Amino acid sequence: MKILVVGGGGREHALAWKLKSSPLIKKVFCAPGNVGMMQHATCEDIAVDDLPGLVQFAKRQKIDLTIVGPEQPLVDGIVDLFEKHGLAIYGPNRAAAELEGSKAFTKNLLAKYGIPTADYRVFQNYDKAVAYINQLNRPAVIKADGLAAGKGVIVCTERAHMQNALQQMMQNKRFGHAGNRVVVEAYLQGEEVSLLGLSDGEHLMYLAPAQDHKRISDGDEGLNTGGMGAYAPTPFLDEAMIARIKREIMEPTIRAMASEGRPYKGVLYAGLMLTEQGPKVLEFNCRFGDPETQVILPVMTDDLLAAILAAQEGKLHEFERQETAGFAAGVVMASAGYPEKYQTGKVILGLNRTFESDVVIFHSGTRRQGNQIVTAGGRILTVTAKDDSLKGAIDKAYRTVGQITFEGAYYRKDIGAKGLRPGRP
Ligand code: AMP
Ligand code: GLY
Repeated sequence: MKILVVGGGGREHALAWKLKSSPLIKKVFCAPGNVGMMQHATCEDIAVDDLPGLVQFAKRQKIDLTIVGPEQPLVDGIVDLFEKHGLAIYGPNRAAAELEGSKAFTKNLLAKYGIPTADYRVFQNYDKAVAYINQLNRPAVIKADGLAAGKGVIVCTERAHMQNALQQMMQNKRFGHAGNRVVVEAYLQGEEVSLLGLSDGEHLMYLAPAQDHKRISDGDEGLNTGGMGAYAPTPFLDEAMIARIKREIMEPTIRAMASEGRPYKGVLYAGLMLTEQGPKVLEFNCRFGDPETQVILPVMTDDLLAAILAAQEGKLHEFERQETAGFAAGVVMASAGYPEKYQTGKVILGLNRTFESDVVIFHSGTRRQGNQIVTAGGRILTVTAKDDSLKGAIDKAYRTVGQITFEGAYYRKDIGAKGLRPGRP
């Protein structure tokens, strides 16, 4: 089969790498792809928001199936458009992608179907929102309703901070229309985990649970980022808790979407908080996570393409699963200054070394310049290693990080540490 992967980050590199190992694959194309993906795929310079350009390319190349990495094209209706042109594509259509595209939609859906999440209120009017936070006497989380590239969520412990967040979103339009509506929700405490499942509209096939590290600094301090590293599976999530998450959250959400006339076909990504009262939904994403995908796919022994084809046909319940193998840890190497201002164009050294077995370097912000590879973004690489133990995977990932250099390279030193703490919940 000829497959097109839409996107050009670490997640899409991992998708191309995994798809390439399927016996069903003839060729993988990526749009726009990146320098690292060229090892596994043919990259075509089409932007992820050029939906007509992607349709034309898929027709011209006779692509058998398109898989979409980022959320924006899904929320913009890429699936509806491809299907209108008779092209096969795996992902939620526009109506189903609301699950990520509107936090107010999702909170209202969860409330309607009794699916556990933080208590919340939705506001379209700034004065009403301010009046509401003025009578709160606990921390709150203020969320822009629409897509904001992962930056539209502000955790506030003080009222002044909440008011400032509302002002930024609703009055100063810091996130454009995404802030026309806001969700104000209760602050939840606990361990965060990401559980992803492939859905065929009715059944789910789960991938290994993963933990992301969203903050820039060790110990989960500092600004939020696109994700500084991840590991999978999460040893603290036992079978009973996984079963509870499936029963109380994942399956009811798929049923709820079907009842609402928005059957959900695609990757359902739940961002969860394991609270003392049980698991609760922080958010849903309508796609694979980044950097979770870079660690979930290395431990997956199933043929991803075969699983996606089963999902396309509504036959996921017949798909024969294999066990996951070992643990994977991925450390993101970023440019100095990220997530704020950073420089690019720094030469990356060490990429062509021979690394230990089960090491893969996924690219995101890289570019070729002459015969060198240079930095071209905030997050540059996800250095991923797999091993029989989580400790082994983390150590191997960091040994590999130590062999790659560029000026100002920054990375967290504690990726996976929470998975190793003894006496986990
Ligand atoms: P989201 O994009 O909704 O997942 O939010 C980004 C991050 O903000 C999450 O990964 C959490 O770390 C944090 N967060 C979101 N909602 C809450 C909440 N209700 N309580 C505590 N932290 C939250
Ligand atoms: N890892 C967070 C995300 O993909 O949104």
